[in-house]
Amino acid sequence: MPLLIIRNDITKVSCDAIVNAANQSLLGGGGVDGAIHRAAGKQLLEECRTLGGCPTGEAKITNGYRLPCRYVIHTVGPIWQGGSHHEEQLLRSCYRNSLALAWKYQCESIAFPLISSGAYGYPKAESLEIATDEIRRFLSDHDLLIYLVVFDKMNFEISRTLTDSLEEFIDQNYVDKHEDHSNRSRSFFGRKLISETGKSRKGAKKASSPSPMVSDSACLDAMPMEEPLEDLEQALLQIDESFSEMVLRKIDEKGITDVECYKRANMDRKLFSKIRSNRLYKPTKPTALALAISLELTLEETRELLMKAGFALSHSSKFDIIVEYFIRNHHYDIFRVNEALFSYDQKLLGLSS
Ligand code: APR
Repeated sequence: MPLLIIRNDITKVSCDAIVNAANQSLLGGGGVDGAIHRAAGKQLLEECRTLGGCPTGEAKITNGYRLPCRYVIHTVGPIWQGGSHHEEQLLRSCYRNSLALAWKYQCESIAFPLISSGAYGYPKAESLEIATDEIRRFLSDHDLLIYLVVFDKMNFEISRTLTDSLEEFIDQNYVDKHEDHSNRSRSFFGRKLISETGKSRKGAKKASSPSPMVSDSACLDAMPMEEPLEDLEQALLQIDESFSEMVLRKIDEKGITDVECYKRANMDRKLFSKIRSNRLYKPTKPTALALAISLELTLEETRELLMKAGFALSHSSKFDIIVEYFIRNHHYDIFRVNEALFSYDQKLLGLSS
């Protein structure tokens, strides 16, 4: 099952368990702790009183009461003291112990806030990295729908180096769709038809929308191509291969299992089995790109896979440019890609059917 990053108030998230960033007393406080106690009602505090507190890094479970969830898992994050007081290990154990409790109580979905990233002062980018790293480890051999709930964007920071280079890449490549592109080149099979006047040539227009009578070879003759003909023939051969057939071929070529493929694509099993069982399955663009990341495709292979689903990468879409950035840099960690997409308010890759 996937990890979804969402903007919301965790007390509004309807799932099996929500995680509270509590303090050792478990008797309530500010931030997410205060919000959860207010929304759950006084019975939550009454049950917490019976727990006898909770040491940092550990987790305890109560009912959800008036919250839209069955359980609240209370965990106590470390207070940031510069990083030399085992803060990282303690924060990691908050996620591990909370996930272990959720699993023990047969939860199918759980929502986390960014533990310690508020009053406890944990550096935000590092707290996010630890959260997604622990969640990824857990999801590698468990199926659980996990929400990482971001209450306000100030507390959501991806690493500065990534932000800087991503910002630069977007600046260099993003083309606002409202700008005039009179010399836009037309493409066919991903190949360019260079036109003198910015309009497609008459022949190309006929070929790109051939009448049923026009044979493929007539189309090819009419298509003044920049590329050698044999490349196009190769492209035509590949075009018979459907989207899902290419995915399955790449899985075999990479020597990975179906499970590894859909988990690395941040996808659930149901969605993947639809792709596997239907030769002509038509995915959404985020699903197609999630598989390109999972299969660690090159940019050219990604373009080919997208084309089989009827899509193309566009420089007037920040979503496309951000994904292209990761593929060009061979960064195939889908959680990092999703963090970057989330920080630019874009759709995420993968997810469920
Ligand atoms: N929903 C989701 N996330 C929230 C909400 C909410 N309603 N309110 C706050 N957050 C976010 C904050 O923006 C921050 O990113 O939760 C994250 C954790 O912030 P805190 O709640 O301050 O928790 P933490 O940093 O772990 O400090 C815990 O604060 O509230 C007290 O009793 C708590 O003493 C404990 C300390």
